[in-house]
Amino acid sequence: MHSILELQDIIEKAITKVQYPSHPARLYEPISYIMSLGGKRIRPVLLLLSSELFNDDVTIAIEGALAIETFHNFTLIHDDIMDNAPIRRGKDTVHVKWGVNNAILSGDAMMVEANRHLTRLDTPVLKDVLTCFNDTASGVCEGQQLDMEFEQRTDVSIEEYISMIRLKTAVLVGGCMKIGAIIGGAGKADADLLYDFGVNFGLAFQLQDDILDVYGDPLKFGKQVGGDIISNKQTYLLLKLKELVNTEDLQTLENLSATADYQKKVAAVTALYNRYNIRELATAEMERRADIAFTSLDKVSISDDRKSELNLLARSLINREH
Ligand code: IPE
Ligand code: IPE
Ligand code: MG
Ligand code: MG
Ligand code: MG
Repeated sequence: MHSILELQDIIEKAITKVQYPSHPARLYEPISYIMSLGGKRIRPVLLLLSSELFNDDVTIAIEGALAIETFHNFTLIHDDIMDNAPIRRGKDTVHVKWGVNNAILSGDAMMVEANRHLTRLDTPVLKDVLTCFNDTASGVCEGQQLDMEFEQRTDVSIEEYISMIRLKTAVLVGGCMKIGAIIGGAGKADADLLYDFGVNFGLAFQLQDDILDVYGDPLKFGKQVGGDIISNKQTYLLLKLKELVNTEDLQTLENLSATADYQKKVAAVTALYNRYNIRELATAEMERRADIAFTSLDKVSISDDRKSELNLLARSLINREH
């Protein structure tokens, strides 16, 4: 069994070894750029941890982990175009550096690269892994579409929000767990439990991401703080606020949604969140989802000892600062 740090190191080394063609430079440079900017690497590490629950040889899962991290980074490039985001991992976003058209095409090429990694997996697991990967990828597209549509709506319910983040974020985390389990040779019941763990943990992860978008420390967060407020994202924080505000504050909130002075908008919406204890309420919901996740993990038919690194990683991510 490896520690989280050792697994991160395995991933980092494997990513560094991947060679992209050098020509055309503007197609491949953005791929090396985003892949080398780090990030937490939680998806590939989760995939390796999941595989390692069932098989001591973690090297069998590395191409799966590379596929998932490459796919994730592709979704970030396109997400930053859609969200009009200026910074990612503390650096200029790809579309700011290379332009939108280049960012679209480099993203497309990354989806192909992700598939190339999958083709290097052993044939017996390939079909099931590919099926899970494709279901996951469709889910992400569906979630991203809903996320954008919600920006134009004012009647989104918390239930709709949860189904949207389940698609845009949580199914990928579930997919990592399931793909790891398939590669490691898990039975169907355990693979399904790990998928459920991943999905519920993914919901908690996105709730925390939404909280950090408002309350993150700009020096640690690596993204523009307040970006969700600026683009009228229908996050759990906003929807909970709308549920609780009095008529006067609701009017203030509605007026703010059209404000072009972004600094003022972020400050004023954050002040409303503070007045109604929205951070605490969102944190409670995040912890509730994480607890559901841990219930599924407990049921996986492997000794608690073997699950300790996975437990540790998941618990540390709930208290993360970026
Ligand atoms: C960002 O994912 C997108 C979300 C689903 C919240 P991460 O927070 O895992 O981003 P990196 O890879 O660590 O930069
Ligand atoms: C992440 O949603 C979903 C995907 C990237 C698919 P966000 O838009 O909240 O992610 P960040 O905050 O930009 O990383
Ligand atoms: Mg975004
Ligand atoms: Mg987004
Ligand atoms: Mg976000």
